[in-house]
Amino acid sequence: MCGIFGMTGVGAVAGTLKALKLLEYRGYDSAGIAARREGRIDICKTEGRVAKLEELVCSLKETDVAIGHTRWATHGAVCTANAHPFLSQNGKFAIVHNGIIENYLELKKKLGDDVHFTSQTDSETAAHLLERNYQGNVLDAVLHTARQLKGSFAIVITTVYDEKLYAIKSKSPLIAGISQKGACFCSDIRCVSHWATSVAVTPDNTVAELSSDGVRFFDFSGNPLSVPFFAPEKAEAYESVEGDFMLKEIREIPARLRIAKEGYVRSGGLHLSAEEARRLKRIYLIGCGTAYNSGLQVAAVARQWLNLDIFSVIASEFIYDNYIADGRSLFFFISQSGETADTVRAAERVTKSGGLTYAVTNTSESSLTFVCKRTTNIYAGAEYAVASTKAYNCQLQTLTLLLLDLGRMRGSVSDALYMEIFGGMNFLPEAIGDIIDNSRILINLAETIKDCSAVFYIGRTADYPTACEGSLKLKEISYLHSEAYPAGELKHGTLALMDPAVAVVAISTCDALRDKMASSITEVTSRGARVISVSPDVFTDATPVILPKIHPALAGIVSVVPLQLLAYYVAKALGRDVDKPRNLAKSVTVE
Ligand code: F6R
Repeated sequence: MCGIFGMTGVGAVAGTLKALKLLEYRGYDSAGIAARREGRIDICKTEGRVAKLEELVCSLKETDVAIGHTRWATHGAVCTANAHPFLSQNGKFAIVHNGIIENYLELKKKLGDDVHFTSQTDSETAAHLLERNYQGNVLDAVLHTARQLKGSFAIVITTVYDEKLYAIKSKSPLIAGISQKGACFCSDIRCVSHWATSVAVTPDNTVAELSSDGVRFFDFSGNPLSVPFFAPEKAEAYESVEGDFMLKEIREIPARLRIAKEGYVRSGGLHLSAEEARRLKRIYLIGCGTAYNSGLQVAAVARQWLNLDIFSVIASEFIYDNYIADGRSLFFFISQSGETADTVRAAERVTKSGGLTYAVTNTSESSLTFVCKRTTNIYAGAEYAVASTKAYNCQLQTLTLLLLDLGRMRGSVSDALYMEIFGGMNFLPEAIGDIIDNSRILINLAETIKDCSAVFYIGRTADYPTACEGSLKLKEISYLHSEAYPAGELKHGTLALMDPAVAVVAISTCDALRDKMASSITEVTSRGARVISVSPDVFTDATPVILPKIHPALAGIVSVVPLQLLAYYVAKALGRDVDKPRNLAKSVTVE
């Protein structure tokens, strides 16, 4: 949700542009760069993608200090005027911001009518405050400004007064990185780990000052803070792909599941003491979007063999509700990025009230892992397409392993059941590989679905979360209207929407519920809707997408794959920008 970057070092403009390409998944409404040189700051910004900025940026002369931004709009329309960076009125400070300055209207009022705003954003306020607060010492002006802001913000600042970069951080992520070639501030650790030899995760409520001597950190009162630097895990090099990242990432699922299983075993599994496991009363699986769906799916599966209450809760709802979060409650916070603000806030709440917290994430150094007591990596590898795919499959497998381990510790999962499911995971890569290799049927089905007025996804018990995930994938990248329903719930209202322009995708992997699904399919076909079944079974009047037979505890890891592919091919048939769908961003760092 907005990518921010700032660097000092030779070729700072080119370096910033390169970083913005990596950060673009965080927002792609507009982009801009500010270049600091002796006595002035020049800005180049534009509505649209970083590729458009790249065409324009040659107007900026190369320099040693630059900051850049790629935007996902929160305040103010998508236009060049609202693109970052913003200059203070006297042109002496420039800022880029990720987050929301919640008290910006009040601060604007305080600044008075003499200050002319060039945008409708909350962010611009910070630039004008810096100018107002500057009395000969930049660090003091930055600290003063930090104390005035409320909300979530990571702000990187350049100024004509010196060659340093400054940053203010509260809630939104900010990494400091140092290499032989220079130093930087950045929203995302993956983006700096290619070249930084040493990185630090900036703590909340911190001001940072980056100079040729390194990085110094202060609390908002100006007291020095000691923040550890460490060598980052090298992220996979960002390669451009032929075609779309989404398809590449779906194709990686088989290999990633193998790596994830090995990684889980290597990590030593569930790090819970026997006493903690025995005392447990309840489990929560918390996340947003796809990550929430993965919790929903695993909860439905694990309920069969864990004698515990399991709740799946949407993070943004959890924060404002009153769930029990004591030492007998185990929380899995699920997040591919580890930066989703709602999930991080929910984890903070639980940490305060004494719940046992686990981050289940693809980013082992992230805001979420810093809040949670324990972390389990899902080893999905870098995911660039905004629509999450391989992370979902890896989340399912990892959560299944964690809950199996817990069941074993508590005595509700026998060694035989454990081995059945654990061993069953070895068949997943091949089963999924076969579905991917036989995508032709999905390409053809996409052609029939693309003109539908709506697409409903239905399933029962553990197939319902799969329906939710299939529906989410379709709506976010094709923009078709789509909903997921527990199949038995259709007759309580939604059947009114069935007509020949509607398609229904029926997911059925549970033998015991096969006949019930057959009835649901008849209910919708008799109202004219066309049905695609995704199942090892064939249903009358439904076009079958045949699934391989898999252990029921693992079926969701496989059955979602045709749905991911279907969404992809429908979006392609409609000519959508699959990797960067409208109005979205990959990492949602605002609440
Ligand atoms: C959907 C999608 C989003 C994310 C959600 C949470 O394809 O990508 O719904 O799953 O924003 O993101 P993370 O997992 O990074 O917390």
